[in-house]
Amino acid sequence: MTALIPVTEVAAAVDGFLAASPAARAWDVETAFDWARADADRLTDGQRSAVRFVTLIEDHLPGYFDVYHRHFPVDDTVDLATFTHNRELYHFTVRWALEEDTHARALARYQDAAGIAERGALRDELAIEGRKPFDLPFDHPVQFFAYALVQEKATQMYYQHLRDVVDEPVLAAVLGRLARDEARHFSFVADVVSRYLRAHGDDVVDPLRDVIANFRMPLADTMRGYWRWALEIADVASYDHTEAYEHLIKVIDRAVDARTDRVDELARFIAECRTVA
Ligand SMILES: [Fe+2]
Ligand SMILES: [Fe+2]
Repeated sequence: MTALIPVTEVAAAVDGFLAASPAARAWDVETAFDWARADADRLTDGQRSAVRFVTLIEDHLPGYFDVYHRHFPVDDTVDLATFTHNRELYHFTVRWALEEDTHARALARYQDAAGIAERGALRDELAIEGRKPFDLPFDHPVQFFAYALVQEKATQMYYQHLRDVVDEPVLAAVLGRLARDEARHFSFVADVVSRYLRAHGDDVVDPLRDVIANFRMPLADTMRGYWRWALEIADVASYDHTEAYEHLIKVIDRAVDARTDRVDELARFIAECRTVA
C-alpha cells in the first residue's frame, strides 16, 4: 500500500489513543453491570429490536478486525518500512478489537439477562450473519480511517440517542459505556485522518471524496432485511450516519490552516451529502 503517513505520525496517534485508554478506566462484561436487574419488559418492541440490531452489528467484529490484517499486513508480504508502520498501527488495532468484542459480549449478555433471547438461540442467530464476508473496497490507506471516522461517530450518536429514550437502567448503563468507547475510537481515527491531511494535502482529497460518495454502514449490503430494519431502528432513536459527516468536515477544517480549492470543494461536497435537517 502506498501513501501511508510516516511511522512517527501513526505512532504518535496510537500513543495518544492508548494514553486516553488507561487500564484503570477499562470495564468488563462480568462486573460492570447489575445483570440481575436487566428487564426487557421495560422496553418497547422498537427498543428491543434496536438492541437486537446493534448486537448483530457489533458481533461482526471478526470480519472488521480481519480488514486491518488484510490491508495493513504485519508479515513479509510488505516491505520493511510498511511493516514498521503497520506494526505501530497494530497496537491500536488489537486494543480496539478487544473493546469491540467486549461490546458484542455485553449486548449478547444483556439480551440473555433481560429476556430478549436465550443464549443458545442468540448464538445461532448471530452465526448466520457473522460468517458472511466483510470487506471495504478501498485502495488508499486514508479511506479506512475516514470510513471508521463516520462509522464510529454514527454508532456513538446512536447509542446516546437510544440511551436517552430507554427507561431501563441496565441497558442505559450499557449504552453509556459503549458510547464512551466509540467516542474514543472516533478520536483516534479523526486524529489519523488529520495527520493524512497535513502530510498529503490535496492527494487525499479524491480518496476521501470516494468514501463519502459510496458510504454504506457495515453489513448494509449483506445482512438480510438490513434496510427495513435500519429504518425501523431510526424510528426508535434518531439514527442518520450522515450526521457524522459534520465531524469529518470539522476534522478537515482543523487539519489544514488554509484550505486549498480542492479541499474547499471536498468540504462542500461532504456537507451536501448530509441528509440531516
Ligand atoms: Fe462498538
Ligand atoms: Fe468503536
